[in-house]
Amino acid sequence: MSDSDEEPQLSAHALAALQEFYKEQKEDAEKLEEALTSGDNNIQLKEDWQLSQFWYDDRTAEMLAKEALSAVGDTGRIACLSSPTAYKKLQELKPETVLVKCLEFDPRFQVFGEDFVMYDYKEPLKLDQTLKGAFDLVIADPPFLSEECLTKTAVTVKFLTAGKIILCTGAIMKDLAHRLLNVTKCKFEPSHSNGLQNEFACFSNYDAPVLNS
Ligand SMILES: C[S@@+](CC[C@H](N)C(=O)[O-])C[C@H]1O[C@@H](n2cnc3c(N)ncnc32)[C@H](O)[C@@H]1O
Repeated sequence: MSDSDEEPQLSAHALAALQEFYKEQKEDAEKLEEALTSGDNNIQLKEDWQLSQFWYDDRTAEMLAKEALSAVGDTGRIACLSSPTAYKKLQELKPETVLVKCLEFDPRFQVFGEDFVMYDYKEPLKLDQTLKGAFDLVIADPPFLSEECLTKTAVTVKFLTAGKIILCTGAIMKDLAHRLLNVTKCKFEPSHSNGLQNEFACFSNYDAPVLNS
């Protein structure tokens, strides 16, 4: 048998890493199934880097949630667009009278029940008409640092609200974000639980005191 006929061999190290990956995936799927059955929406889902998932650290989620809640008042309506960690923190901190929705592409977030809305940034207006202008504030954190992604995300943001916007994205998107959504950079810099290296920034189209103190 020639060398080229041989099965490719994984090193012991690569094999162990692969086994660990599948084990973690299986554990995640089991946790998710349990949460869906029991209605417990408080599970910690692992980041899926294929979906460009980088979760906020707890302080960032709290700052965004506090800003949003103080901006909308006691009967406000908030949409979290591609920002499920902000949704979770809002659920934890909000009064019962505030409504929060989570628009997301990752179907695992169906654990959020009726608050979950399937959303793909590539089809920015493929949303139920009842959501048009239905929110006082939108928090958005688009998956990719590209002109295409931010432009399409901005179309959805404008569909959802004529009001307040908080956008979290790479600092390099500043000029485009301003042109599309009239947002300017806040003092507060979002950070991520896994220590993402890109320079991240937070933008708003109103004077957002919690993010500017
Ligand atoms: C950069 S992360 C932002 C998450 C945010 N930092 C958080 O902690 O909630 C991008 C988000 O976009 C979502 N996403 C990935 N592909 C998407 C798509 N095609 N359309 C809309 N959202 C997408 C991911 O699931 C992820 O939640």
